[in-house]
Amino acid sequence: MGDGPLVGRHVLLGVSGGIAAYKAAELARELIRAGATVQAILTQGAASFVGPATFEGLTGRRAHVGVFEDPHRILHVRLAREADVAVFAPATANLLAKFASGIADDLVTSTYTCLTCPVIAAPAMHTEMWEHPATRANVARLASWGVRIIGPEVGQLAGGDEGPGRLSDPGEILAAAAQTLVTPEPDGSLLAGLRLVVTAGGTREPIDPVRYIGNRSSGKMGYALAAEAQRRGATVDLISGPSHLEPPPGVSVSHVETALQMRDAVVALADKADVVIKAAAVADFRPVDYHEQKLKKDTAALASVILTPNPDILAELGARPHDALLVGFAAETDLEEERGREKLHRKGLDLIVINRVDMADSGFNVDTNRALLLTMDGRRREVPLTTKAELASVICDEVEALIRMRAP
Ligand code: PMT
Repeated sequence: MGDGPLVGRHVLLGVSGGIAAYKAAELARELIRAGATVQAILTQGAASFVGPATFEGLTGRRAHVGVFEDPHRILHVRLAREADVAVFAPATANLLAKFASGIADDLVTSTYTCLTCPVIAAPAMHTEMWEHPATRANVARLASWGVRIIGPEVGQLAGGDEGPGRLSDPGEILAAAAQTLVTPEPDGSLLAGLRLVVTAGGTREPIDPVRYIGNRSSGKMGYALAAEAQRRGATVDLISGPSHLEPPPGVSVSHVETALQMRDAVVALADKADVVIKAAAVADFRPVDYHEQKLKKDTAALASVILTPNPDILAELGARPHDALLVGFAAETDLEEERGREKLHRKGLDLIVINRVDMADSGFNVDTNRALLLTMDGRRREVPLTTKAELASVICDEVEALIRMRAP
């Protein structure tokens, strides 16, 4: 047994009914090896896949299935109070739906509603269920309440199908549990008290009063970053292209429409910023001419719109003398490291987040993303499919690591 953050800590392991329940037994064993006390609780469905006796053998504690097993001591309340961290693995679509709507109709869901410790959910299900709008909405809701969603991974599923939906590796789930128990920096997050500029959404380049050149960016990634940095105690200026999203509470927002307006807003704030994160999808080109009147559809000016390049805001910041850490995004159709590194160096960045924009569940206008993070000091971190809230947290962790490295 090591001396890691799990030693002597109390982990509540909630298992729901999917084929991946057998991997929860492996997770229980790994948690015990890492020094934790593990209390397993199972849904009836989970117990059909792996019996409580398996968890009892591994953990040395009674694995509970029913609310009424110990009614005098109000089992669900007691189990929730004992936990330092709660891990739900596998979390089925049904379990996530119940958590997200506050349904407490068995021991696992009743215990969840009593928890005050950090909560981790590792979903596992068939791809169709993971991609259903109901599941997406439930995951986004849980993430907004602070539940850390780990995975799922892409891989082989029950019945031989392949796709996103496979339970993350038990080692990865364990690492996430351990991370929640790491003693924070003495004065909290390294972002506390810093000034961050975050850009979000897409720009619109007008042709006439009704038409524009735009893109599908919703602002979700940038808003998630602004919310996470604000949660860590930073003062956040969010510069947003048109978006339907509610600005995160406590974040100051400047609304812009075009790339030139975004450039002016960023440049005005960048000098005072400690960190600039550019998640916005800035149009690379804009029409040379803006027509004050709506163009008739048969006009030549509409048949061929002449474009001129927009300034590359990030490259401009990187080329000027600056103290701020610069974080850029790259919208790519693969996570190709070499091209990402080239962009990192060419734009003078400290960190680049390469994200996939060619898949239905990552990139533009969805709640999830997959990314490869590269830092100027040569580190790489691959983030498999996860929520944008979770990716925002990983990015903030990396920014903190860069700040730590810069410290004298
Ligand atoms: O808003 P969502 O729907 O949540 O979608 C999120 C996202 C996919 C838009 C986001 O995660 C993302 O990838 N943003 C960057 C999109 C992009 O413009 O990528 P790029 O490879 O073209 O640009 C690279 C970097 O340069 C980006 O940080 C961009 O902000 C910056 N840039 C680009 C062009 C320009 N003229 N000025 C810039 O500063």
